[in-house]
Amino acid sequence: MKKNKVTFINSHTQLYCLLGNPIMHSVSPQMQNTAFQSYNLNSIYIAFTIEEDSLENVVCGCKALGIKGFNVTIPYKKTIIKFIDIIDASANRIGAVNTVLSSNDRLIGFNTDGIGFVKAVGEGTLQDQQVAILGAGGAATAIVYEVASRASSITIFNRTLKKAETLVENVLNSLDVTHNISIQALPLNKKSLEDTLDKCRLLVNTTSIGMHPYSNKSPVPQQLLHSKMIVFDVVYNPLKTRLLKDAEMIGAPTISGLDMLLHQGGEAFKIWTGLSPPIEDMKKAALQALLGNETIN
Ligand code: ATR
Repeated sequence: MKKNKVTFINSHTQLYCLLGNPIMHSVSPQMQNTAFQSYNLNSIYIAFTIEEDSLENVVCGCKALGIKGFNVTIPYKKTIIKFIDIIDASANRIGAVNTVLSSNDRLIGFNTDGIGFVKAVGEGTLQDQQVAILGAGGAATAIVYEVASRASSITIFNRTLKKAETLVENVLNSLDVTHNISIQALPLNKKSLEDTLDKCRLLVNTTSIGMHPYSNKSPVPQQLLHSKMIVFDVVYNPLKTRLLKDAEMIGAPTISGLDMLLHQGGEAFKIWTGLSPPIEDMKKAALQALLGNETIN
C-alpha cells in the first residue's frame, strides 16, 4: 500500500467517530486513521466519550453534522438501536450494533463483530467442526450465529448457565429447520470442560478471564488443551493471554483477539468507503498502539 502524504484537515474533511464509555483504551482511532491515510482519503476518525443520557442527542448531532459513519462500543451497542433508522439483518439477530453508516439522511446499523471473527479464524476452519465457546455475553452472541451456520456442533460454556441456555434457544430459533447442527449449553467448570474438549477442534474464549489486569488467569486448565485444537482468545490485552501461552506450550495453533479486532474494524471501513481494508497497515498501527498501552508480561 502506497504511504500517505500528510493529511491536511480542511473544509472537505469527512469525520468518522467512535462513541462509547470508556474509550481511552481503544485503538480504533489508530486503525481507522491509518486506513484512511493508506488510501489518501481526506477523512479523520475521532473517539468521543459519551454519557448515557446524551446518547440520543449525540446520534441526532452526528446526523445533523453529516457524519458519514461511526462505530459504537461498550456500553451502547444495544441501546443505540432505538436511535437508528434501519438495522441490518446481522445486527438485528445479535441485538447489537457496532457500526453505523449514514446514507441518504438515514442511519443504517450493522454488526461487524461476527464477520470479523470469521475472517480472523478463516472460513474453512469452521466448516463442519466441533466448536467450544466460553462465555455467553455480547461477543459470544456475535460469534455463535456465524459459527452456527458453518460448524457441526457447538458447546457454549458459561458461568451463568441460564444465559448460555437462552443463547442456545435463540440461535436454534434463528436457524433454518433443515440445518443440521447440535448446540448445547454447559456450566463453565472443569468437569464439563473435561467431558467436551477432547473432541473439540476450535476453542474460543469470549469471557474476560485473562484480560489485563488479571493476565495470570486462564478459563481452561492447561491439561485440558490439546494440540489438535485451534485456540482463539477474543481478549487482546494482553496480546498473548495466559490461555494462548498455555496452548502454544502444548503445540496448539493460536489466534489472538487482535485479529478479530482488526477484521471487525476492516469491515466497518469497507461499509463506510466501499474500499478493501488495508489490514496489514491497520495491524501495524494497532500493534504499535497496543504495545504502547499494554502491560507486557
Ligand atoms: P462481552 O461483550 O465482552 O462479551 P459481556 O456481554 O459482559 O461482555 O460478557 C462477559 C462474559 O464473560 C459473560 O459470559 C460472563 O459470564 P456471566 O454471564 O456469568 O456473567 C463472562 N465472565 C466475565 N467474568 C468472568 C469470570 N470471572 N468468570 C467466568 N466468566 C466470566
